[in-house]
Amino acid sequence: MRITKGVARGEPVSFTFNGVSYTGYAGESVACALFASGMAHLRDSPRSHQPRGMFCLMGSCQECLVWVNGRKVPACQQPLVASLQVSSISNEAP
Ligand code: FES
Repeated sequence: MRITKGVARGEPVSFTFNGVSYTGYAGESVACALFASGMAHLRDSPRSHQPRGMFCLMGSCQECLVWVNGRKVPACQQPLVASLQVSSISNEAP
């Protein structure tokens, strides 16, 4: 659940994750925007094929790696901007 009062937010923006459209707020992290939209599964472990998502939220664990406009980045360190194309690293590079 998002905090709705007493917070300065960016404008609502649309972005995609694995081809599905989501809405978040400009400037929040991609990981948080997806989590707030109900998407916690960002990729699968290459060895165990278990689901992975946010863990440290400070760029250390790399559990949240995703493709963003063709670059592999931690979703928790990627600020959300309009029309961002995000995909799971379980998929081939875009
Ligand atoms: S949650 Fe650990 S690097 Fe993103």
